[in-house]
Amino acid sequence: MEKSLIIGAAGQIGTELVSQLRSRRGKNNIIAVDLRIDNLSSPCFELDAMNETALRDLVLKEGISEIYHLVAMLSVTGEKAPQKAWDLNMKTLFSVLDLAKEGLIKRIFWPSSIAVFGPSTPKIQTPQYCSMDPTTAYGISKLAGELWCQYYFKNYGVDVRSLRYPGLISWKTMPGGGTTDYAIDIFHSASRREEFISFLEPDTRLPMMYMDDAVRATIEIMEAESDAIRIRSSYNLAAVDFTPSELGIAIKKIKPEFEMSYSPDSRQAIAKSWPSSIDDTQAKLDWGWKSRYNFLSIVKLMTDKI
Ligand code: SER
Repeated sequence: MEKSLIIGAAGQIGTELVSQLRSRRGKNNIIAVDLRIDNLSSPCFELDAMNETALRDLVLKEGISEIYHLVAMLSVTGEKAPQKAWDLNMKTLFSVLDLAKEGLIKRIFWPSSIAVFGPSTPKIQTPQYCSMDPTTAYGISKLAGELWCQYYFKNYGVDVRSLRYPGLISWKTMPGGGTTDYAIDIFHSASRREEFISFLEPDTRLPMMYMDDAVRATIEIMEAESDAIRIRSSYNLAAVDFTPSELGIAIKKIKPEFEMSYSPDSRQAIAKSWPSSIDDTQAKLDWGWKSRYNFLSIVKLMTDKI
């Protein structure tokens, strides 16, 4: 069995991806690394992904053949330190791409995002190929990263696979500094019986996905035959789309005491620059993608679990 390395394993996606991969492929074949490993179970190591030498040593020592690179500064955190976001997001990507270029690893997963789109992008059912003018440091780094992935595939044969995740909704781990985080925070407020103050306007529609769908998409694209992966920048990926107001109404149906109000801040401008819904036809055609969780099932699961 091949060994996989998950970088950024303690984050929102990593936590759930590690446990799914371990139950599929065996615990010892999935190595989890992050800056802090208090919440990870072994095999796991403390690793700063910016330390290229430490990363390379670990890959060689553990005989890693596949890397899931989940390290990133997201849209909101990235705006507080744009240069740092660019450095982190790009340097760590190049380290991993170069390991594959040298033949040390066989396959890479690298997440992209709806943040690659911008104000000139068609908003509804955003197509795979269209105008892209990201406004955030995060979005710029993801768009550049997508193009570098494609470059490494075309010029060096690097088997890199990528998805443009929508906002990801999960209850096991809190998200870290994104614009779509409101759609998780709202469930925590509802469970504490606190009023939720939305930092987005009521009718801001964004594409979203339940974490189980996102993890399954990740595993499916990585387990697909290489020939099936015809897009080597990043695939559009979709499940549901909704607004803060629609989400509030759905929660109130389950918890009638729930109240929310609106106080939009700088995150509104980021959300406004992103698509409302995504066309993921190409992922469906190429490697058989299909989402399973709809809006109501997500709201039900989130209210039950939190
Ligand atoms: N969830 C991310 C963010 O809001 C988008 O990929 O930054």
